[in-house]
Amino acid sequence: SGPLVIAVDGPAASGKSTVARRLAAHFGLAFLDTGLLYRAVARRMIDRHLDPGDALAAAGEAEALVPEDVDERRLRGEGVGQGASKVAVVPAVRAALLPFQRRIATSGRGAVLAGRDVGTVICPDATCKLYVTASVAERARRRFEELRGRGEAPIYERVLEELIERDRRDQARSVAPLRIADDALTLDTTRLDADASFAEAVRLVSGQL
Ligand code: C5P
Repeated sequence: SGPLVIAVDGPAASGKSTVARRLAAHFGLAFLDTGLLYRAVARRMIDRHLDPGDALAAAGEAEALVPEDVDERRLRGEGVGQGASKVAVVPAVRAALLPFQRRIATSGRGAVLAGRDVGTVICPDATCKLYVTASVAERARRRFEELRGRGEAPIYERVLEELIERDRRDQARSVAPLRIADDALTLDTTRLDADASFAEAVRLVSGQL
């Protein structure tokens, strides 16, 4: 049989990356958080004083991306996340990042990929697809706590507004919008902590293997 591919999609701060990372360790698979690639493109633009809304410049930066750009420590801020959702609407950016994502998914025993379009575009034939979600208020609360934990001084209302804005941009774009794949199983983590979310994810995935 071919590689085992688990696609984990969902909106910002839904818990998808944490669930996906733990699934990868559990099943002994590689892990890729595809959002980091879009964040790395946005970061390159910010560092070069380019506007993330400039489609042509974004495409150039996506093509110039090198592994050293994908340094998680420099990519987690909300400003980079907003920039990422702007460069992510550019078809040439998505096309430039696609081969790398497919290569990770199909090499070795397989992989768990977290993102927005893994089950719909990157790996439509994935062995198993999860759509991880949570209420927007709960997602804002989690992002707020995460920012506080990093020593920032977030304002809850601002965090909530930015999440709503990012959800809107991710769902409204014409190329690879965030949507639930027809064959995905939904995992709502609103009332689940990280351990309970992971346990439920293992149960859902195991049922599909
Ligand atoms: O998941 P994360 O918040 O790191 O993603 C940042 C942004 O990158 C998202 O808001 C989305 O616009 C974009 N993205 C995407 N497709 C993916 C992963 C992320 O368009 N597969």
